[in-house]
Amino acid sequence: MSDWTTEAADAIREAAGDGFVTPKLGMVLGSGLGGLADAVQDATSIPYTDLPGFPVGTVPGHAGRLVLGTLEGTPVVVLQGRAHLYEGIPASSVAVPIRTIRALGADTVVLTNAAGSINPDAKPGAIMALTDHINFQGMNPLAGPNDDAIGPRFVGLGDTYNKDLLRLLQAAAEAEGVTLHEGVYLAVLGPSFETPAEIRAFRTLGADAVGMSTVPEAIVARHCGLRVAAISAITNLAEGLGDEPLSHEHTLKNAAIAAQDLQRVLAHFVKEYH
Ligand code: HPA
Repeated sequence: MSDWTTEAADAIREAAGDGFVTPKLGMVLGSGLGGLADAVQDATSIPYTDLPGFPVGTVPGHAGRLVLGTLEGTPVVVLQGRAHLYEGIPASSVAVPIRTIRALGADTVVLTNAAGSINPDAKPGAIMALTDHINFQGMNPLAGPNDDAIGPRFVGLGDTYNKDLLRLLQAAAEAEGVTLHEGVYLAVLGPSFETPAEIRAFRTLGADAVGMSTVPEAIVARHCGLRVAAISAITNLAEGLGDEPLSHEHTLKNAAIAAQDLQRVLAHFVKEYH
């Protein structure tokens, strides 16, 4: 493990003290989706500013704290908010929070985000599990020197989004009476939204949703051996497909709607997760 990761994991263990329980899974809660962290019990909550190497985001809707505790009886570590590459952080810094989840002992991470839909079936307020991704960010968090103790120089991404986890998520959604769409997420760098021509191109490329996060985390997670599941909260129809002008306020408003279903599905999933 890199020094940063070890330092952050040590700081978390120290903050939790005798209450430290090895988390079974990690979760990253995206724009407007942080509410699930409030349901964590016996919580130790640490701001990212106190965690060595953690990139600190500046976007409203991202609390920027790590919460360790139990959710529905399962030990978890929840990252409430994330920093994005468009904020100017180095791509490699995305690795620190994800590797910290691994360093704490979890073997699985569930990534969430807000995204625009390119698939007319998935409307604002819907939720979509990722089956695959397209990296259009022009960056890779693993570029630079490789630490062979963490993972291989060249990591395969053929099975990035774990099929067993997807089945469990679908079962949880069914039990909660929620439709969980499935699709391919295309990551752009942002922070501008896309042009209508870009969205038409992305549809042709096979994308169902577009967003500005998650892909770097998924790559880092696979590199360090974490199993990955990811869900988008659909906050808008992508540019050119709907009438409403896109804005971050619009994203947060619709994220709050999708978040209700998302939180129920994730709470159910976590309860069943062993
Ligand atoms: N594009 C990119 N990122 C997004 C969008 C979008 O339409 N909606 C929420 N995040």
